[in-house]
Amino acid sequence: MSHTPLASPTGRLGVLMPGMGAVATTTMAGVMLARRGLGLPIGSLTQMGTMLLRRDAPAEVALRDAVPLAGLDQIAFGGWDLFPDDALASATNADVLSEKHLGLVAEELRAVKPMTAVFYPEYVRRLHGTHVKKAPSKAHMVAAVRDDVRRFLRDEGCDRAVAVWCGSTEVYREASAVHESVERFEDGLRHNSPEISNSQIYAWALVQEGVPIANGSPGLTLDFPAMYELARLRGVPLAGKDFKTGQTLMKTMIAPGLKARRLGLRGWYSTNILGNRDGEVLDDPDSFRTKEVSKLGVLESILPKDGHPELYGDVTHRVRIDYYPPRGDQKEGWDNVDLFGWLNYPMQMKINFLCRDSILAAPIVLDLALLLDLAHRAGMTGMQDWLGFYFKSPMAPAGTAAEHDLFVQQVRLHDALRRIAREAA
Ligand SMILES: NC(=O)c1ccc[n+]([C@@H]2O[C@H](COP(=O)([O-])OP(=O)(O)OC[C@H]3O[C@@H](n4cnc5c(N)ncnc54)[C@H](O)[C@@H]3O)[C@@H](O)[C@H]2O)c1
Repeated sequence: MSHTPLASPTGRLGVLMPGMGAVATTTMAGVMLARRGLGLPIGSLTQMGTMLLRRDAPAEVALRDAVPLAGLDQIAFGGWDLFPDDALASATNADVLSEKHLGLVAEELRAVKPMTAVFYPEYVRRLHGTHVKKAPSKAHMVAAVRDDVRRFLRDEGCDRAVAVWCGSTEVYREASAVHESVERFEDGLRHNSPEISNSQIYAWALVQEGVPIANGSPGLTLDFPAMYELARLRGVPLAGKDFKTGQTLMKTMIAPGLKARRLGLRGWYSTNILGNRDGEVLDDPDSFRTKEVSKLGVLESILPKDGHPELYGDVTHRVRIDYYPPRGDQKEGWDNVDLFGWLNYPMQMKINFLCRDSILAAPIVLDLALLLDLAHRAGMTGMQDWLGFYFKSPMAPAGTAAEHDLFVQQVRLHDALRRIAREAA
């Protein structure tokens, strides 16, 4: 952390989103409505959260009074997509917000036009975009995105930016040799390595430009040694991955409760239907695999086998997602939980969550943007594991286990904000 006091920011903050689909446009419209007093930013800790300034303080204060965050009216939105629709057309197509809501901010949304996308289709096989960049190599693609960022900052009069990857889930890939160091990655870019994904090209360009980035999808986008090295070199904070919304949010609320009461678990079966473009992309087994890996880690971490073999030693955990177009963005999740109590007597719990995916994701995007900007101004670089609260697959420093318990994550988030608040003072 830096040792100069942290002042309230004055300039405009660019919030850049590669992927201007349902989540991105719901975030944009919500912020535009909230800053005009036409809607409440419910679910956002930066706007509605409170915290103790000291753990033993007598009363909580508003989080935005505790630390110097950018204000909603200082935000300028930008993004990229492989379809040319502006934010109004894309939000209309996503069908998350009502016409009444979109109508109130239609002009502002129409003005957010996507920049052309970096798109190697083998990473998202279900989409066929037309609004894409052409360049002879992946290194040229990085250069083109860097130009986009500079042009955006100049045109919008912003003095800094943050980014949140809101693009589609890419096919499952593990890190390979090209991801090991900055040198190898740069070499891979020049030689068009097939191991380098679209989202990694954006992330590389953004970090090179000194723009902090969070990853809302479950892929490898930021989570590899070369990216950590680059982030340290460029003094940029990173956070990820996969927004914790719907079913996993519930799981990480309920599992800590079972553990707190020392109730046992035999199995947890989760299934979902969703019909938005995200669902269509996840219909590809390789994209689903990325999501499945992200969703499965949660229970084992909260209910460790070794800690209580008699309670959690033999748990069957299954996750399914089905693409079902009639449902649109209004996902439905069913959970069947087989638990047991006193003298091993079995019980069942059924959870039917009729959630709205993007309504739960939008406040996360806003919080991540404002908190990453705060972290950047506070001189924090590299992986920000205190932001794990917002993610299904929180990134953790090498050799340490990621924390999934929502309540422990909340304590860590508040602890980090208290440290920043002390610096700010
Ligand atoms: N909504 C949720 O609750 C939630 C939760 C966790 C994670 N996520 C993740 O957030 C992401 C966005 O979700 P969504 O519901 O908005 O999906 P969406 O399909 O509505 O939007 C994704 C957009 O990304 C665009 N895109 C794909 N590849 C791109 C590229 N290379 N460059 C630029 N644009 C690209 C697509 O054209 C699309 O418009 C997905 O990865 C999803 O898995 C969403």
